[in-house]
Amino acid sequence: MNDRFLVTGGARLQGSVRVAGAKNSVLKLMSAALLAEGTTTLSNCPEILDVPYMKRVLEGLGCFVTINGSDVSITTPAEIASDADFDAVRQFRASVCVLGPLTARCGRAKVALPGGDAIGSRPLDMHQSGLEKLGATTHIQHGCVVAEAKELRGANIRLDFPSVGATENILTAAVLAEGTTVLDNAAREPEILDLCIMLKEMGADITGEGSSTITIRGVEKLHPADHAVIGDRIVAGTWAYAAAMTQGDITVGGIAPKYLHLPLEKLKVAGAEVETYEHGFRVRMNHRPQAVDFQTLPYPGFPTDLQPMAIGIATIAEGSSVITENIFEARFRFVDELLRLGADATVDGHYVVIRGVEQLSSTPVWSSDIRAGAGLVLAGLCADGVTEVHDVFHIDRGYPNFVEQLRSLGATIERVSDAR
Ligand code: UD1
Repeated sequence: MNDRFLVTGGARLQGSVRVAGAKNSVLKLMSAALLAEGTTTLSNCPEILDVPYMKRVLEGLGCFVTINGSDVSITTPAEIASDADFDAVRQFRASVCVLGPLTARCGRAKVALPGGDAIGSRPLDMHQSGLEKLGATTHIQHGCVVAEAKELRGANIRLDFPSVGATENILTAAVLAEGTTVLDNAAREPEILDLCIMLKEMGADITGEGSSTITIRGVEKLHPADHAVIGDRIVAGTWAYAAAMTQGDITVGGIAPKYLHLPLEKLKVAGAEVETYEHGFRVRMNHRPQAVDFQTLPYPGFPTDLQPMAIGIATIAEGSSVITENIFEARFRFVDELLRLGADATVDGHYVVIRGVEQLSSTPVWSSDIRAGAGLVLAGLCADGVTEVHDVFHIDRGYPNFVEQLRSLGATIERVSDAR
């Protein structure tokens, strides 16, 4: 099946939505369950395709995994396999997060070089050099990354760049290493904080989580935990931008607004009214947005995963905006689809200059990754007529019940399944 969405433009989105747990957290937490024998349970999990994909990876390693709505339970046996199933892993990028836990638990890990989004080259050099500093040897062989270690020892590691994935793999290996690891220039994304909180619930000794220097004192053994997944700030941010782009009024629950500080500040500059609460926020817009410049940076900077929404609002804003992408070099592929929707944009290296138009013009468009797909749906909401968004399996990997939630906010959108 290759589903597409038919999005009718013109609706003003209004109402309330609640976001589920973060995709970029749940997959790492599921993988961290490999670190302890017994049953770990996760609540507030999003009902997205990547969760059953990760279930398949963990089952291939010997775990027993059940998914019951937003609850996921993972039973890890005393002995687990060290080689992740090639086909299961290649389906999605986040699968590489089993590298750290497997190296720590088995002294060996073999994981296929992951597939995932078409947003640019995604090497693993920092993951490898981090594990090597902890005493592992690593190499790439037949499309897989292999790590081997008789024992892991704590070390001082400074990342060249605050990579989310490398920070996670180093953390999940160091928790069971002998001695202390100090990880400098670590990623500070809220999902890393969530992982550290769960590792501590499992008995890990970690300080400095959420900052760029994390200290991990290795322990001999971890135990399973029950943990609620942090809310998805990217899905929440998508709703915030949907409200502003459609001159709507959306209240979003299930997320601490501090994790979206900069994206919400940018909306204020664009002319939106933003109210924040302890576990949510409200975005209202009653006129055409003003142009705003954006540049993506590691957290707490503007998230690259919301860059398609930033470009989306710029396409219909009054005035010109410059958007700078600093994380993934191929993310501007999405702009070609927007040009077909009538956007006025010029890409130059990692900059795009966008001159806002009053309305986009519907046409069939193709999603190239999760966030670009969601961005095209938002653009379709601002176009005349019906925009067909193809390859929506990308969107299904990251946005639970997207169509249903959009409809509950007043959008006219339909999923069409064509048997191939
Ligand atoms: C994670 C998120 C993704 C988000 C990104 C940045 C998951 C599953 N995905 O991806 O949604 O957009 O963080 O916030 O959580 N790099 C190297 N060498 C390495 C590792 C990374 O050069 O060893 C580069 C990458 O190519 C990229 C940049 O560093 O240009 C950032 O990557 P990283 O922070 O590692 O992102 P991911 O963990 O892949």
